[in-house]
Amino acid sequence: MKIFAIIGSPRKRGNSEMGARFLASLASAESFQFVRLASKTIKDCRACYRCLEGSCPLEDDYGLILEKILEADGVIVAFPSYFFGENAAAKRFLDRGLQFYRHFETLRGKPAVGFVTAGMEFGEGYAKLALDNMIERMGLENRGTDVLYGALPGEIFLRKENFGKMEKLAGALTGGERVRREGEISCEVCGYSYFDFAREGTVSCLICGTRYEVKVSPELSRIEGSGVHLFDLDKLVEHRQWLIGMKQRFLAVRDELKRVIAENLRPGEEI
Ligand SMILES: Cc1cc2nc3c(=O)[nH]c(=O)nc-3n(C[C@H](O)[C@H](O)[C@H](O)COP(=O)(O)O)c2cc1C
Repeated sequence: MKIFAIIGSPRKRGNSEMGARFLASLASAESFQFVRLASKTIKDCRACYRCLEGSCPLEDDYGLILEKILEADGVIVAFPSYFFGENAAAKRFLDRGLQFYRHFETLRGKPAVGFVTAGMEFGEGYAKLALDNMIERMGLENRGTDVLYGALPGEIFLRKENFGKMEKLAGALTGGERVRREGEISCEVCGYSYFDFAREGTVSCLICGTRYEVKVSPELSRIEGSGVHLFDLDKLVEHRQWLIGMKQRFLAVRDELKRVIAENLRPGEEI
């Protein structure tokens, strides 16, 4: 399988790149190339719609990336959660996606998997939703996505559960079933499980907008220890201290990170 990965992170040998390399090797990729979007020139869509019938008039690296996606047998998309959503490079890339419309016949059925990286447990916010949406809008066959937790570069390899997640995604990419969570309630139109419960009795799918009538108890019982609660000044100040302390934590585990990066570095060619 010829695998191509789209990496949103600007970090060289960061968690997104390292994870994508690892995943591609688990999928026994015959060849593996990747692009770090942040190192390429990708201009903002100018909304001229010309790409729907001809080529995009913007001169940059987008065409090369599109070509690689079209040539690949399987695609990996990976980007970090920034401010609880996708990072800007990933969104800028997707915003040029009207170009996919000319290629849906080729893209349809092409398997894709993805993951977002996030430094805080439960801190990914809507980034996984953005990832699922991105894979879907690209016209690819979404075989599964997940969240790999780890803040410092290489830290995803210090958390055992990430290996299992990557194995599952690799299996799905090479022919397995779409990765689903147990007991998942999903939209019967698009199959995703992101719902807006804003109005009592009605939920709407955040991916495709289908609305459902539901009977849900309005009572919520919070699961202790879950969530990231950065909503008052004290918590924000505490979080700022935690972020400032990141450098010290990095220095303390630098050698260990270097070791796991070296141990888990799998082949891949950056375009
Ligand atoms: C500007 C910025 C914003 C971030 N925002 C979040 C966030 O909202 N939630 C979270 O869990 N981690 C956040 N992080 C941490 C990254 O998601 C985390 O370090 C991730 O592993 C980076 O992946 P990479 O090594 O592939 O770049 C943020 C990091 C940066 C630099």
